[in-house]
Amino acid sequence: MKSFHGIFLRCPGLRQFPRARLLYALFVLVLLLMFVGPFVRFFDSPMRKCQLPPGMKLRTSDHVDNSLDLWSRNDVETCTSWGAPIIWEGMFDPDVYDKHHKKMDTSVALTVFAIGRYLEIYLKDFLSSAERYFMVGLPVTYYVFTDAPKKVPEVQLTAGRALEVIQVEQHKRWQDISMMRMQTIADTIETHIRHRNQYIFCFDVDQVFVGRFGSEALGDSVAILHAYFYQSPQEEYTYDRNPNSTAFMETGDFYYHAAVFGGTWRSVRNLTASCHKGIMRDKKNQVEALWHDESHLNKYLWLHKPSKVLSPEYCWASEIGYNRQIHVQRLLWAEKYYSTLRT
Ligand SMILES: *[C@@H]1O[C@H](CO)[C@@H](O)[C@H](O)[C@H]1NC(C)=O
Ligand SMILES: *[C@@H]1O[C@H](CO)[C@@H](O)[C@H](O)[C@H]1NC(C)=O
Repeated sequence: MKSFHGIFLRCPGLRQFPRARLLYALFVLVLLLMFVGPFVRFFDSPMRKCQLPPGMKLRTSDHVDNSLDLWSRNDVETCTSWGAPIIWEGMFDPDVYDKHHKKMDTSVALTVFAIGRYLEIYLKDFLSSAERYFMVGLPVTYYVFTDAPKKVPEVQLTAGRALEVIQVEQHKRWQDISMMRMQTIADTIETHIRHRNQYIFCFDVDQVFVGRFGSEALGDSVAILHAYFYQSPQEEYTYDRNPNSTAFMETGDFYYHAAVFGGTWRSVRNLTASCHKGIMRDKKNQVEALWHDESHLNKYLWLHKPSKVLSPEYCWASEIGYNRQIHVQRLLWAEKYYSTLRT
C-alpha cells in the first residue's frame, strides 16, 4: 500500500482527489471490464499464428508451394499445425504459379449445381464471372448439374475452356439437393473428370467471382476457412454435436465452408465418396447432420487434413463488412433469396 500512496503523493492532481471516490471509480472500472470484457474478445479475438520457425519448410506436395512467403503476412495465420499453407494475398507470386501450371499442362474441372430457381437466379453471373477470374489461362471444364438442361444460359467461353451439362433429378428439399451432390460429384469423377482434368474445384452456385481465383489455389486437397468463423473460438464452430450422426465431432482444426472445396481428382473422389457414405448411413439411422454435407465435409477434413487451406479472401461475404485482414476479395456470396428459393 505504501508505494501505491507514494505514486499519488508525487502526482499533484491525484493528491486532492478524495480516496473514497478513487476507490469507487476503481470499483466501477473493474465491473465494466467484467461485463464488457467478453464482448471485446468477440470483436478482436487474436488470430493463431503460423508456428513454423522462419526458414523451416512447409510440408508441400508440389514444389511450387516452396515459393510461398509465409512471413509476408504477419497479421494472419499462414500455415496450419500440420504444415499446410493457408493462402493469403501477398504470400504468392501469381506469375510463378501460372507458369508452373502451364508447364505441367494442368487442366481443371469446376463443378456447380444449378437446380430449380437457383439456375435462373445465379448460374449466368457465376459462369461469366468464372470466365473472367477462375484459373485464367488454364484449360477449364465446367460441369453444370441441373434438372433443366435446356435453361442453361449461353456463356461466351475463351479458348481451351468447355462446358458440359449433366442432368440430375430435382429433390424436393434443398437439404437433399445439397447432400446428393457428394454422390454426383464422385460418379462424375469416375465417368468424366479423371480422364480429362488433374484437378477439380466444387462450388456453390450462389456466388460471384470478383478477383483472381488462380492456380495458387491448386493442391492435393484444398479446403477453405469459413468467412463467418475463421476468427471465432472453437466452441462457436457449428460442428455436428449429435453423437448419433456419423458427422459427429467434439473438436476439430477449423470450420471449413462447403461452398468451395477441391484437390486432385483422386482426393476429391475419396472425399465425396466418403461423405456420401456417411450421409447414407445417417439416413438409415434417421439422423441428419446439423449442416448437412458441410458437417460431413468438416468431419472428413478433420480426419484427412487438407494439404492447402484457402483464406476467406477466396469466399467472402460482403455483409460481414470491412475487415483489414481481407486484402482482396476473390469470390463473394451473392445475395440470398431464401424466402423464394427454399419454399
Ligand atoms: C441417439 O440414439 C439413441 C438410441 O436410438 C436415442 O435414445 C437418443 O435419444 C439419440 N440421441 C440424440 C441426441 O438424438
Ligand atoms: C483414396 O482412398 C484410397 C482407398 O482408401 C487410398 O488408398 C488412397 O491413398 C486415397 N487417395 C487419396 C489421394 O486420398
